[in-house]
Amino acid sequence: MRKVLITGGAGFIGANFVLLMRKAHPEDRLIVLDKLTYAGNLENLASLKEGPLYRFVKGDINDATLVDRLFGDEDIDTVVNFAAESHVDRSILGPRDFIETNVFGTFTLLEAARKHWLPSNGDGKRFLHVSTDEVYGSLGPTGFFTESTAYSPNSPYAASKASSDHLVRAYFHTYGLPVVTTNCSNNYGPYQFPEKLIPLMVINALKGKQLPVYGDGQNVRDWLYVEDHCTAIDTVLERGRLGETYNVGGRNEKKNLDIVKLICSIVDERTGSGSELKREFPFDGSRAKLINFVKDRPGHDRRYAIDCAKMEKELGWSPAHRFEDGIKKTVDWYLSNRRWWERIISGEYVEYYSLQYSGRFTGQVE
Ligand code: NAD
Ligand code: TYD
Repeated sequence: MRKVLITGGAGFIGANFVLLMRKAHPEDRLIVLDKLTYAGNLENLASLKEGPLYRFVKGDINDATLVDRLFGDEDIDTVVNFAAESHVDRSILGPRDFIETNVFGTFTLLEAARKHWLPSNGDGKRFLHVSTDEVYGSLGPTGFFTESTAYSPNSPYAASKASSDHLVRAYFHTYGLPVVTTNCSNNYGPYQFPEKLIPLMVINALKGKQLPVYGDGQNVRDWLYVEDHCTAIDTVLERGRLGETYNVGGRNEKKNLDIVKLICSIVDERTGSGSELKREFPFDGSRAKLINFVKDRPGHDRRYAIDCAKMEKELGWSPAHRFEDGIKKTVDWYLSNRRWWERIISGEYVEYYSLQYSGRFTGQVE
């Protein structure tokens, strides 16, 4: 039985991972540490019961006293570090939180692991740091990111993640801390906060609002269904080699505009005439007419694409979801969980959500 500290477990990927771990490893004790920022949502974990196998702790990964106490009291042997400020747009508008959480927070966790694990050589311990492909910068029309691609982060978000990755690496080489890092491409799926491209477009399409496409919409991302990212992390946790990094991706490059058009057609189809949802989400014609090209994001990376051959060959992992199926499942999840996102876009979260429409660089004010 492992005692697994999962930071950021109330966020999008963290919550999906906690739910997957609960099923895949019912014997492990899962301790979620989450600050519950605007992006953390306890509703995502509502199906779990506090008890011998699960505990939720509201707190900051940058709170050294709290983190130290948790390592001691819970005898933590495994860390999966999801906690982060994760949205590029916000990092452009206000980078400080990104440095505090992503850099100093990761440092605080590493220090606690060093203090508690290294007196006994770290045997049986594992610190998995969850990172992004954005640390590699932007690709031209061809080529892929491999684990040996040089880091070249372009946004404050990417720079803060790159910095944390370097710290994790340094703790392996300097102290022998048992670490492993994953660098994953863009995720989509249930529980994603609707500031990110896919849930934002789904919800705006359902509500008949403008669909703000940055620049010419030709930027490319490599999309992975969140459950596939979670199985990759579980795999690396079990079989990844210490000190290594693993690129995780879906071999699924898409242009932003094509994604938005696809979402429009799925939403049109799901809410079309004859559908029970027509009355709930009425709209005349195709949602594609809501597409609105807006001012580009500053420093907008043109293309990301992951070569995940190392994950496939060394660890036998591969994504289980085709994009065409995953995106339909995702739209259906947002259709079936209206209360979840209605709460976010109204009431207590509205201030954060509306940042998206502040016009500071989108050039658009709702
Ligand atoms: P998210 O923004 O949905 O969730 C982040 C979670 O971390 C929230 O629950 C938040 O409350 C918590 N948190 C933030 N600051 C904290 C702090 N100081 N202490 C404790 N908890 C804190 O993010 P996500 O999309 O689920 O991303 C999770 C991780 O995966 C991040 O490290 C991100 O860099 C990485 N990642 C994300 C993607 C993606 O497409 N979303 C892709 C690759 C890697
Ligand atoms: P995002 O979901 O913010 O992820 P990331 O910037 O980490 O890749 O954005 C994905 C792509 O979609 C990115 O190229 C920016 C673009 N985008 C839009 O065109 N409009 C939007 O409203 C948002 C949020 C993103």
